[in-house]
Amino acid sequence: MDATEAATGCIIEIRHLWTQFGEQVVHRDLNLCVHRGEVMSLVGGSGSGKSTLLREMLGLEHPSRGEVRVFGVSLRDGDPAELHGIRNRWGMLFQEGALFSALSVFENVALPLRELKTLDEELIHDLVMLKLDMVGIERGHAAKMPSSLSGGMVKRIALARALSLEPELLFLDEPTAGLDPDRSESFCSLIADLRRELGLTVVMVTHDLDTIVSISDRVAVLADQKIAALGTVAEVAAVPHPFIENFFQGERGKRALEGLKSPAAVSASGQQER
Ligand SMILES: Nc1ncnc2c1ncn2[C@@H]1O[C@H](COP(=O)(O)OP(=O)(O)OP(=O)(O)O)[C@@H](O)[C@H]1O
Ligand SMILES: [Mg+2]
Repeated sequence: MDATEAATGCIIEIRHLWTQFGEQVVHRDLNLCVHRGEVMSLVGGSGSGKSTLLREMLGLEHPSRGEVRVFGVSLRDGDPAELHGIRNRWGMLFQEGALFSALSVFENVALPLRELKTLDEELIHDLVMLKLDMVGIERGHAAKMPSSLSGGMVKRIALARALSLEPELLFLDEPTAGLDPDRSESFCSLIADLRRELGLTVVMVTHDLDTIVSISDRVAVLADQKIAALGTVAEVAAVPHPFIENFFQGERGKRALEGLKSPAAVSASGQQER
């Protein structure tokens, strides 16, 4: 753990972040701390700035003002060598174009390993096969092209690629969008298993309530240009806010929330029951 992370307890720390495109203010003095080991879901209306915030956490874009620190390193002002080092400590599953269509399954997963330029072919082969095992893809699919695979398989292989460098931190943008309910459920349990086994921290943008309820430790609601609510699903669902009421209190929301205990259901030890 880095010194700054140890001091703040945040694997990702966002402070006084403003994002502005011309006259449009997308984020206004936004603050957020993601703890090591948690699964945080980021929800919000279309255009509320979720993807932009995710890109800012990856250093692909910089905010107009404010600071984003990951592993204690400032993504804007950090030392270039340090910044290079932390990029190998996170993995990202993009919503669109999850795999390179011109590369086989094997080559897609091997890509980040090859970019290290330190591993020989035999080791790359073994590591790719291990990652495919990890996400439940049979090794026999390694030579296939992405176009011949189902959407659920493509997501799993993209996840294998995101995990190829054994990251501590995983970013997911709409990981279950476009999957049918069964595939979506099995993808969620895969994420939950991997997170347990690998001790991952996960930041996930999603619209899918079942996904949120099944794997989030905390939910951050992006509304009114800031984090309008933050807490467990049950805590956030109880916050009076038009977006939250719409999102969680619709038919799907109510169904997904069934089975969750109310925020008042805290056990004698002070631990939230799950
Ligand atoms: N590079 C850019 N230039 C100008 N405006 C931008 C740029 N990137 C994002 N925006 C604007 O910022 C706002 C937030 O966009 P963003 O894509 O982050 O929203 P989102 O919450 O991910 O929405 P969705 O749920 O539809 O994916 C939108 O109004 C968008 O038009
Ligand atoms: Mg988006």
